[in-house]
Amino acid sequence: MNSNELRQKFLKFFAEKGHKVAPSASLVPANDPTVLFTTAGMHPLVPFLLGQEHPAGKRLVNFQKCLRTDDIDEVGDNVHNTFFEMLGNWSLGDYWKKESIEWSYEFLTDKKYLGLGKEKLAASVFAGDKDAPPDDESAQIWKSLGLSDDRIAYLGRKDNWWGPPGQTGPCGPDTEMFYWTGKDPAPKKFVAQDSRWVEIWNNVFMQYNKTIDGKFESLKQRNVDTGMGLERATMVLESKENIYETELFLPIIQKIKNLSEKQDQKAERIIADHMRASVFLLADGVIPSNKDRGYVLRRLIRRSITYGQKLGIEHDFTGEIAAVITGEYGEIYPELKNAKIEEELKKEELKFRETLGKGMKLLEKKESITGAEAFDLFQTYGFPLELTKEFATVSNPTEFEQEFKKHQQLSRTASAGQFKGGLASHSDKIVRLHTATHLLNAALRKVLGDSVWQKGSNITEERTRFDFTHEKKMTDDEKKQVEDLVNGWIAADLSVKKDLLPLEQAQKLGAIGVFDEKYLDIVSVYTIYDGKSEEVISREFCGGPHIEHTRVIGNFKIKKEEAVSAGVRRIKGIIN
Ligand code: ALA
Repeated sequence: MNSNELRQKFLKFFAEKGHKVAPSASLVPANDPTVLFTTAGMHPLVPFLLGQEHPAGKRLVNFQKCLRTDDIDEVGDNVHNTFFEMLGNWSLGDYWKKESIEWSYEFLTDKKYLGLGKEKLAASVFAGDKDAPPDDESAQIWKSLGLSDDRIAYLGRKDNWWGPPGQTGPCGPDTEMFYWTGKDPAPKKFVAQDSRWVEIWNNVFMQYNKTIDGKFESLKQRNVDTGMGLERATMVLESKENIYETELFLPIIQKIKNLSEKQDQKAERIIADHMRASVFLLADGVIPSNKDRGYVLRRLIRRSITYGQKLGIEHDFTGEIAAVITGEYGEIYPELKNAKIEEELKKEELKFRETLGKGMKLLEKKESITGAEAFDLFQTYGFPLELTKEFATVSNPTEFEQEFKKHQQLSRTASAGQFKGGLASHSDKIVRLHTATHLLNAALRKVLGDSVWQKGSNITEERTRFDFTHEKKMTDDEKKQVEDLVNGWIAADLSVKKDLLPLEQAQKLGAIGVFDEKYLDIVSVYTIYDGKSEEVISREFCGGPHIEHTRVIGNFKIKKEEAVSAGVRRIKGIIN
């Protein structure tokens, strides 16, 4: 079975069990302000895991592109990679452990689906600690399906508790499924440390919300969040020992080999992984830079080029690899069909090759360098220690290791730290600013024209920040017109209503949303309208929440209007 069949079977299986198929959301999270990237299928669903009603109902299924960069420096071995796809099904306050585990078992073992050998399956469940009791319920369900006690391991928090990926958010104990990949028959007893038992699926029973002060409070509803890594599952189904040997990677690795002068398996894998991640990030609008997401992207591209050096690839090659990736994935992820991807790669590669050349010259001059100098090379030119060692002797590598650990700590803290996007909370002030933001969007389109599209927004207690497409700086007069319109609408005390509509109907009604965002077949739409004349002022795809009447917003003012990138402007607005 190839990976696309696997994707399709997964969706079909859960659709038959009453799940609605949700699209893969962007790698840049819109609904979870606590993380830099979408690291699991649950991020786009955070508001719904916390209790907000989802327009498609209580059961969802999808495949979701994900990026985890905590271990970027370890990519290339058999297990670590950055970009991956995750198959997932969700119960939003609906079914619980019994259905979840039974369906997983059916999907894994039934010949109509994956048809994996029952005698090769094992499971782990949460052993319990101060925050939650042992998960005997899941263990019982596994037993009722035929797993022996030996094949059910009770493990601690490190193994069997999932989330939250940021500092706060939904989380809970999980049960994980393992499949025996060894050449010998599966042993009677399951030992999680034996790497021939490969984890293939993780069902999280989300009952808790971790608060900012580290407490675990019960959620309003009990959710199930599951994740099956597509690369790993494909590896198991194709009886491969390594994800890079699956058809998901082979064409990319082959292209790298064709371009190389030398052979080096690890370098090939790193480039294949990093280029996949880079292409998908660029497709979601991330641009290489020295900050946040842009910095991660820059590192991924630069590491690819540096490892290309190790393979003897001295010409610009990232565009060529990207073309293979977009060819392989373009049908499934249409956002990859975007000429900007190769353009941006070219720009970045050109810039980096100058720096790289300088780094290489430095190395050529010296036969031996210190650990601290090697770390400098790593930070400035992206040379991993291992690569530096190819060209020079490193006199005291522990110095490098010490600096490197500090650096890793810092980047982990940065990616786990609060990254603000969307609404910071649902406080009264923020909800009023949210409705004001919809009015701002409508006013901008009236004053500047229909080429204005929202690119993103972020709302805190202090202000709303709204990014939109527009080529020029706004004039003072345009800003004043926008403010006057918004304040006029506020004074008119317009009504705000929410409807759940089929996507097509919402589009016919002229609902607008974030540029390039994908939507479900049933969408939540907020309309701001004049209760008497029924004139519609704003209609947007939006999950809310909003106030019901505009007068409570207060007075709106534009504090700042500035450029974000070419063709994108940013407004910071306040209310008082
Ligand atoms: N959110 C869970 C995971 O990523 C399912 O493993």
